[in-house]
Amino acid sequence: MEMNIALLPGDGIGPEVIAQAVKVVKAVGAKFGHKIKFEEAPVGATAIDLVGDPYPESTHEVCLRADAVLFGAIGDPKYDNNPKAKVRPEQGLLRMRQKLGLFANVRPTFTFPSLIHKSPLKLERVEGVDFVFFRELTGGIYFGEPRGRNEQGTKAFDTNVYTKEEITRLARMGFEAAQRRRKLLTCVDKANVLATSRLWRETVQELAPEYPDVKVEYEFVDAVAMRLIQWPKAYDVLITENLFGDILTDEASVISGSMGLMPSASVGTDNKLFEPIHGSYPQAAGKDIANPLATVLSAAMMFDYAFGLKAEAQAITDVVNKSLAAGIVTEDIAEGGKAYKTSEVGDWLAANL
Ligand code: IPM
Ligand code: MN
Repeated sequence: MEMNIALLPGDGIGPEVIAQAVKVVKAVGAKFGHKIKFEEAPVGATAIDLVGDPYPESTHEVCLRADAVLFGAIGDPKYDNNPKAKVRPEQGLLRMRQKLGLFANVRPTFTFPSLIHKSPLKLERVEGVDFVFFRELTGGIYFGEPRGRNEQGTKAFDTNVYTKEEITRLARMGFEAAQRRRKLLTCVDKANVLATSRLWRETVQELAPEYPDVKVEYEFVDAVAMRLIQWPKAYDVLITENLFGDILTDEASVISGSMGLMPSASVGTDNKLFEPIHGSYPQAAGKDIANPLATVLSAAMMFDYAFGLKAEAQAITDVVNKSLAAGIVTEDIAEGGKAYKTSEVGDWLAANL
């Protein structure tokens, strides 16, 4: 197969971890006989520094002509404590999601046998955990209008808005995923308080008869926050709005003990983007110490979700597990054993694929 992949390394450790994913993707290409081309473009603080825009039009065009986008991380501390900064790196990310129509953010949580003892939860609660969030990504309070301040600047407001259409397309993805998995769908909302949540619930209830093999549960977001810690095995597929999903998927990403190792996909009708869940980790930038596995696993998701190539995806997951078992790991999970460099882990994965 021929594939054109856009590389958006972004900020902080982004370029280092993307470089390792590229090594692995190239190795997969060689092993399975695919012709893979890469095109790189700036995003985030890196793009602000270069051209004054966190998501330049030229970068958007690179994404549009690619079959899939591999994305590193965005964010730079020089913007974080400056609420008056006119352009912020995160605006680039939000604009990119919107312009590429990436309305579903797919964030799985699963366990790695060799890291499970690092889970903050008791072993019996976390063993075998395997669920996936479908977070709505281009609507809700992140984008709703009006937003801003009154003239005196003494009052600020954001608006949470959802249309039935936005809920439907996200919910359908969740239902279809549930059909391929353990056939349980949890709709996470705050329908006891919010009008938007009541529309979510109503819409999901209307769709449910089309998926008779899927069991649907409705749960309030605060209860889910609690149950994710108490009994995460209760979940299979969870669907939720943008802000709830932002918060819960961070919570979910640490329970398996492999903090910062989870991959993600953001997909729409025409475009697909893959990125690690972790951030730009500016303290480690340029030091060759960051863990590249979340980005490498995001590349595995890319083969599966963007190209339907399951064997390729599995080969990457397998070699990652092999590296963990062999102790070829970066300092964050070395636990007193030898800590390998980011680039060494990438080299090992590519060589052992
Ligand atoms: C994420 C991030 C972003 C979000 C930020 C950086 C805008 O936290 O991808 O979850 O809130 O969506
Ligand atoms: Mn987040």
